[in-house]
Amino acid sequence: MSTAPMPEFPDGFRWGVSTSAHQIEGATTADGRGTSIWDTFARSPGRISDGSSGAVACDHYHRHAEDVALMAALGVGAYRFSIAWPRVRPDGSGATNAVGLDFYDRLVDDLLTAGIDPVATLYHWDLPQPLEDAGGWLHRDTAAHFAEYAERTAARLGDRVRLWITLNEPFIQMSLGYGMGVHAPGQMLLFDAFPVAHHQLLGHGLAVQALRAHTASPIAIANNYSPVRVLGDSDADRAAGTAYETLHNRLFTDPLLGRGYPDLPGLDPTVVRAGDLDTIAAPIDVLGVNYYNPTGVRAAEEGSPLPFDLVPLDGYPRTAFDWPVAPDGLHELLRWLRDTYGEALPPIEITEGGCAYDDEPDAHGQVADPDRIAYLDGHLRAVRAAIDDGVDVRGYFVWSLLDNWEWAEGFTKRFGLVHVDYATQRRTPKSSYTWLRDLIAGSAPGSAR
Ligand code: FCB
Repeated sequence: MSTAPMPEFPDGFRWGVSTSAHQIEGATTADGRGTSIWDTFARSPGRISDGSSGAVACDHYHRHAEDVALMAALGVGAYRFSIAWPRVRPDGSGATNAVGLDFYDRLVDDLLTAGIDPVATLYHWDLPQPLEDAGGWLHRDTAAHFAEYAERTAARLGDRVRLWITLNEPFIQMSLGYGMGVHAPGQMLLFDAFPVAHHQLLGHGLAVQALRAHTASPIAIANNYSPVRVLGDSDADRAAGTAYETLHNRLFTDPLLGRGYPDLPGLDPTVVRAGDLDTIAAPIDVLGVNYYNPTGVRAAEEGSPLPFDLVPLDGYPRTAFDWPVAPDGLHELLRWLRDTYGEALPPIEITEGGCAYDDEPDAHGQVADPDRIAYLDGHLRAVRAAIDDGVDVRGYFVWSLLDNWEWAEGFTKRFGLVHVDYATQRRTPKSSYTWLRDLIAGSAPGSAR
């Protein structure tokens, strides 16, 4: 980790933390909440590595006041949470459940009282099960249902949420949820999952229209990106790199920024109807960028159903998820976005970045996580370097405030600045929490830093 002082961030740079509903709330049957695809998926044997579910998670639904107090003491200016669609419309498309919305209403008010900007994601992968039963994101109607849900949510919260994020990582929903079957809903369609991309993007565009009617706040989408490192120097390796880059980094950004879909062999364009691309390209105010690591790619083996092979990258420290720790990838990515999209690129906020380590309290109850401090230090310096290069980056949200239920990995991966003992729900700030608190305090306008 660098010993040089952290360079100053511009005035108004937004420091935040991120979570998502299904990973922290628990209370999955409380107050009329409907069933989501993740409830169903977790009940299916063998899907979740430790056999757990999000039924209790961090019990945030009942402990949100304590969690807001943790954020206030951390000094963050913003909190990115997600709203559970099945709480708001239990069957996905019918009546609104006012009690479900009440929870977010209270949360938003508590955040504002604590001086923290509420940043609300409308969809972080928890599709109402009845919509999946009707075809899920493969079905065009899901886009319209999403926009209606957005409309009803904004009618209640639009006066107080400070930044709206329509979708979280639609690439992961498509690739892991419908392409490879490792996330809910567990379908394995490979490239036949393309309609999931289009219908999510269409839902995004329709939701932007619906939100604009109820809020003056900025609107974003949170895409995840991974700079591609081509291993090997054959033409086939380079073609594999281009194919992966197109799929991961361009498929969900080119159409948003008015370029239509990129060329990608295997994608069936017949689901794209007249006018859809204009809907998708409705202007957004901020591009949310989730960044964790770069991806190593080389030519696919003979007979592979995919046009690339993914290979581990050597030469980097690794997290408990075995992800390489590569801050240079974030710097490279931010420049790539600027160079690729130029004037069409809106201001960026890093809506997620973080790392999993096997953090446990010591004999004194303290949780030391020096690797997370080094991770954050390196990635924040990368953001600062990109700002120096002229990339307009306005904020960084750490994934995550709390250790939480990490999807198919269950409770086995700890990403929090705050340790959670799942047996007692006791929260213990880790040393990275203290480090970040001091960094934020030092970067406030008027400080000595
Ligand atoms: C991102 C997800 C988030 C969490 C982190 C580790 O892809 O958006 O919910 O799982 O990875």
